[in-house]
Amino acid sequence: MCSVKLNEGIYWVGAIDWNIRNFHGYSTHRGTTYNAFLIVDEKVALIDTVKAPFFPDMLRRIREIVDPANIDYVISNHVEMDHSGSLPMMMKEAKNAQLYTTAKFGEAGLKKHFNLDCSMVPVKEGSELTLGKRKLVFVPIPMLHWPDSMVTYSVNDEILFSSDAFGQHLATSQRFDDEVDAAVIMQEAAKYYANILMLFGHLIPPAIEKLSTLSIKTIAPDHGIIWRKDPGKIITAYTDWSSWKTKNKALIIYDTMWHSTEKMALAIEDGLFGEGVEIKSFNLTAADKSDVVTDVLDAKALIIGSPTLNNGMFPSVAQFLCYLRGLKPKGKIGAVFGSYGWGGGASKAITQEMEAIGIQLVEPELTIKWVPEEAELSQCIELGRRIAAKMK
Ligand code: FEO
Repeated sequence: MCSVKLNEGIYWVGAIDWNIRNFHGYSTHRGTTYNAFLIVDEKVALIDTVKAPFFPDMLRRIREIVDPANIDYVISNHVEMDHSGSLPMMMKEAKNAQLYTTAKFGEAGLKKHFNLDCSMVPVKEGSELTLGKRKLVFVPIPMLHWPDSMVTYSVNDEILFSSDAFGQHLATSQRFDDEVDAAVIMQEAAKYYANILMLFGHLIPPAIEKLSTLSIKTIAPDHGIIWRKDPGKIITAYTDWSSWKTKNKALIIYDTMWHSTEKMALAIEDGLFGEGVEIKSFNLTAADKSDVVTDVLDAKALIIGSPTLNNGMFPSVAQFLCYLRGLKPKGKIGAVFGSYGWGGGASKAITQEMEAIGIQLVEPELTIKWVPEEAELSQCIELGRRIAAKMK
């Protein structure tokens, strides 16, 4: 049996994507899953579907339990195609099913994506659906991740089908939090939050407040493992992340052309050493921007450097800052460093970008000409020490 039982009459019928390494622009080193859930009561409901190429996997799992033609309701918690891609095919199998989605954005989104010819039921905050002995309640959580997003709560099972919220891009043959290394789960949960939800951090506390009225035994997101042992752990993590709680952690993020900026980065690192600061250093030619952003989540200081190329910053640094700007991190302090040959320009461009992001620059730009000399490297060390002091 390839489906997995969550509770009496409730099954995971999703798909495992072992090989995806880029999920709409962010790296997924460990693959992902598209979770769909089947509830068999007097009526049968399917919550979400899977990315289109994985439809046969989901259908096979559903068929282990019921004839798809007997599905009465398909609930679309989220329009994005990693969850709705199989809907057109699913609705052909579940010929008599009604499709539940959020009023306005869900309805409009599904129509525009798929031009579906089926009965669609729009739901709002608190709308309910009785399946027999079970009652489902729908709670919209707009922008977590799209305007249409909602969660579905099974009152009798105390299971929250949470859509994108609380997920992780993590492909495993195990389905539950007590079956997978906790450090791996939390690392992927943080990466998922940083790259997908950081921008919407201000919407997390009201969403959690809304969900706090529900008694939740299990959180079943649409990606990764299901939180059955400790659902409070991921709610606490979301509370911390959305409150921009930081560690005494500094990131040195840079690229280099002829190793001058790299020498500066190493000297700044020397200055931070021994000051009780956790340090991570990323050369953007080697580092993955999605991983760097994951570390940004709980870092206090961002120290960003670049050589000057064509009167501006290195393309890798520009790309990273563009990505970071979109995610709108808050509560960070920062500094800028770099090298140049004649005209310069990289440090000024980085400063402008960091100011636009809202990073509080606590030091003047440190820029050196050509190759740093000992005295200039000492300035870098001092810069690291001063930033460490300002982090306290
Ligand atoms: Fe997993 Fe916003 O889709």
